[in-house]
Amino acid sequence: MSAPPLNPALFHLDEDHLWVMHCAEGPVPRAGTRAVRAFMQKELQPWEVRWEEDFLGIPAAVRAEAAALLEGRAEDISLTPNTSTGLVTVAQGFPWKSGDEVLAPLGEFPSNAWPWLALRARGVMFREVPLWEGHRAGAEAHLSEPPRADADPESRLIEAIGPRTRILAASWVRFQDGFKLDLQRLAAACRDRGVHLVVDGIQAAGTVPASIEGLSAFATGGHKGLLAPQGMGFLWTEEAFRQSLSPSGSWLSVEDATDFSRPSTDFHRAWLPDGRALEPGGPNLLLASALMESLRLINGTGVPAIAAHVAHLQERLLMALADSPWHQDAGRLRALLQGGRLGSILALHHGGKGPEFLNHLLKSGYRLGIFASVREEYLRIAFHGFHAEADVARVAAWLKGAVG
Ligand SMILES: Cc1ncc(COP(=O)(O)O)c(C=O)c1O
Repeated sequence: MSAPPLNPALFHLDEDHLWVMHCAEGPVPRAGTRAVRAFMQKELQPWEVRWEEDFLGIPAAVRAEAAALLEGRAEDISLTPNTSTGLVTVAQGFPWKSGDEVLAPLGEFPSNAWPWLALRARGVMFREVPLWEGHRAGAEAHLSEPPRADADPESRLIEAIGPRTRILAASWVRFQDGFKLDLQRLAAACRDRGVHLVVDGIQAAGTVPASIEGLSAFATGGHKGLLAPQGMGFLWTEEAFRQSLSPSGSWLSVEDATDFSRPSTDFHRAWLPDGRALEPGGPNLLLASALMESLRLINGTGVPAIAAHVAHLQERLLMALADSPWHQDAGRLRALLQGGRLGSILALHHGGKGPEFLNHLLKSGYRLGIFASVREEYLRIAFHGFHAEADVARVAAWLKGAVG
C-alpha cells in the first residue's frame, strides 16, 4: 500500500467525483480558498493592503516557491498568467533574424505552436518533427501510431536541427500521448549546436521532479499538476538567455519602479536584470495567493514523492488491465513507464476503435463518477499525489467493464 503523499482531505474531493484529469485542470486545495479569501478581504478595505507584505511580498513569495519547485533561483522567475504568455514573451522578445527557424515535436499543444507561428510575418519558420515511426498529428491525428518504449524521439529532434534553427521548443510531457522527453539529452545537444531549448512544462510541473539544467526557458501555467486556479503561472529563464530577450516593457520592468520618492515619469532607468523584466505588469494578487498555497503544499510534500506515488498507481492500473481487452495497450504503457518515459498521464490509445468509442467510454465513466479526458484519440487517466489505491481499483473496474 502506498499512502497518498498529498492528504486527500486537504481538497474538496468527494465520492461522486473521481477526478483523474488534472491534465486538464487540477483541483485546488482548500488552503487556496483561505488565502484568496484573506486577500480579498483586504481588497474590500484597501487600507488593509500592505505594500511590502502584499503588493511586493506575495509575488516574491510565489517566485521563491516556483524557484524551489524547479530547484532554481527566484530571480530567474517571471510571474505570467499562463503557459502561453510565457512562451509568447520568449517568442516576441527573442532577437530573430529573417530566415531563423523554430523546431518543435510534431503535434504540440497549440500554446507551443501559435507563439512561433505568429512570427511568420517576421520571416521565422516553424518546423515540426515526427517523433516516432507512424507519428501523425493535425487532421491525421486519429491515424497516429502511439509511442512505444523503443522510440527515440530525442535523436529525431537532434538530427532535425539545422543551420537556421535557433530554438527547439518542446513540451516536457506531451498533452495527448503522455510521452516524457529527456530534457537533459536535448539540452546537451542544443548547447553543442548553439540552439536554445525552450520548454512547455505544464504537463510535468508538480508531478515530475525538476530538470531545468541546460534549458533556456521553461513556461508553465498553474492550473494542472500545480493545483492552482486558472490564470496564474510562471516563466523561468536562464540569465544570459533572458538578457538577450526584449523586456516586456511594463512599468514594473525597470529599476526603482515602486520607489515613489523618485518621479514615476522619470524614464531614465535601467531594465531590471531579473525575471521581473519579463512580467506583464501589476500582479494578480488574488490568484498569486492561491498559487502560493498550492506550490507550498507541493514543495512541502516534495515532487519526487508525488512522482513515485503516481508511478506506483500507474503500475497498479496497468497490471490490473493485463488480463483485460486493454492488455496490449497496457503492455505498451508499462514498457514506457518502466523506461521512465511517462509523466502523470496514462494515455490509452484507441487502437483503431475510433473517437466515438472513446467518447462513449468517457461518458460511461462520468455515469460512474469517474472523470477522465480524451484528447486526439487517447483516453487520459492522470493520477496525482492525492489519489489512493482504491481510486485505481475504481478506474480498473470501469475500464474492464467497458470494453467489449
Ligand atoms: C502541453 C500544454 N501546454 C499548455 C497548456 C495550456 O496553456 P495555458 O497555460 O496557456 O492555458 C496545456 C493545456 O491546456 C497543455 O496541455
